[in-house]
Amino acid sequence: MSSTPVTDLGAYWMPFTANRHFKGKPRMLARASGMYYETPEGRKILDGVAGLWCVNAGHGRREITEAVSRQLAEMDYAPPFQMGHPAAFELANALVKVARDPQAAQPAGLGHVFFTNSGSESVDTALKIALAYHRVKGDAARTRLLGRERGYHGVGFGGISVGGMVANRKAWPSAMIPGVDHLRHTHDPARNAFSRGMPAHGAEFADDLERLVALHDASTIAAVIVEPIAGSTGVVLPPVGYLQRLREICDRHGILLIFDEVITGFGRTGSPFGAQEFGVTPDIITCAKGLTNGAVPMGAVLVSNNIHDAFMQGPPGAIELFHGYTYSAHPIACVAGLATLDIYQREGLLTRAKQMAPAFEKAAHELRGLPHVIDIRNYGLVAGIELEPIAGSPGKRAFDVYLKCFERGLLIRTTGDIIALSPALIIEQAHIDELFGVLSQVLREAA
Ligand SMILES: Cc1ncc(COP(=O)(O)O)c(C=O)c1O
Repeated sequence: MSSTPVTDLGAYWMPFTANRHFKGKPRMLARASGMYYETPEGRKILDGVAGLWCVNAGHGRREITEAVSRQLAEMDYAPPFQMGHPAAFELANALVKVARDPQAAQPAGLGHVFFTNSGSESVDTALKIALAYHRVKGDAARTRLLGRERGYHGVGFGGISVGGMVANRKAWPSAMIPGVDHLRHTHDPARNAFSRGMPAHGAEFADDLERLVALHDASTIAAVIVEPIAGSTGVVLPPVGYLQRLREICDRHGILLIFDEVITGFGRTGSPFGAQEFGVTPDIITCAKGLTNGAVPMGAVLVSNNIHDAFMQGPPGAIELFHGYTYSAHPIACVAGLATLDIYQREGLLTRAKQMAPAFEKAAHELRGLPHVIDIRNYGLVAGIELEPIAGSPGKRAFDVYLKCFERGLLIRTTGDIIALSPALIIEQAHIDELFGVLSQVLREAA
């Protein structure tokens, strides 16, 4: 990489970024190691968000670098259609093991993996599999997909259709998948503000699915997709009993349940997947991000044996699913994934959030009472701190905090007026102290 500072920032159209604001006063990162980034000038920045909820084992993991370099030298690319390479099968097997239900002697039944390159592709793949599944079962009238308000499922047309964030939807009304509907969200600050862990109230929000069944008839509904914990929309937690109830209603009506675990996957909650943490097994899990520790783009869709087997019925020479990507199971991504899962296993990272959660929760809730803090919610190594919006300027208060934190050497994430924290799972008490120390100072000063 060139060490000369880049001065022309015009050509790069940055994603989900206030481009003109950024280019007026750029915030650049140049190096990363462990819990820290470093700016080109050598200023250390504590990473409070694991990059973007993805660098779960911390930055600069040597084992991943070495695996990727070895693989690049050995075989840079292999076509995934009608051809295979060993690392793809190894990673699929390893992932199925990670998703094993700790309650059951057998794997939870999510025994098959379809590889993609991102969370968005995982979501669109999962939705396509759900629709095609009902079709191969002879139930082709099940074409409706249900999402949830305040859900984020990436930026593909499928993902924005089932997603529930208005800013991500309003520019493309004509491109939404027809027949999609949404459950109500589970955010209920009147009853649940400042909850620690799962909120006590709101299991009954799952009954909204019965309302949609009554409206559309179950025979038209293919699948429901929800995030066990919604992250991008500002940390919205599942009330106690909510996910169980959703599962029961889906079962009653033959509706597939998809968990979008792009952020809850790989140890964020204290279990490998949210499905295990919350004791609810969906039919399909989507994941990405932590799968390769953010080092190489990759996503995956874990599919139940029932669904997979339904496709494996026709003549053995026929392609069963007309779907896939040039870079599905890319060898570099596969070896990065294998090295990542190895680190997670060796260092116990997939359950470490449980150990660190009490200290993280305590520090997060100590922000209560600071100016404009109207809610704090947390689970595992995720916390959401909601600020009172400035009248007429939604999002500004939190964004100002974001900018000040960066100046003080801390990277946080904000959506609207909610600060979301999701540090790497290697976090130690000293990092927790530093993170919340800087944040509380900035919150005080921003008053
Ligand atoms: C729950 C969820 N689904 C999907 C996505 C999209 O993933 P990607 O940005 O890799 O396409 C995200 C990204 O944050 C996410 O949080």
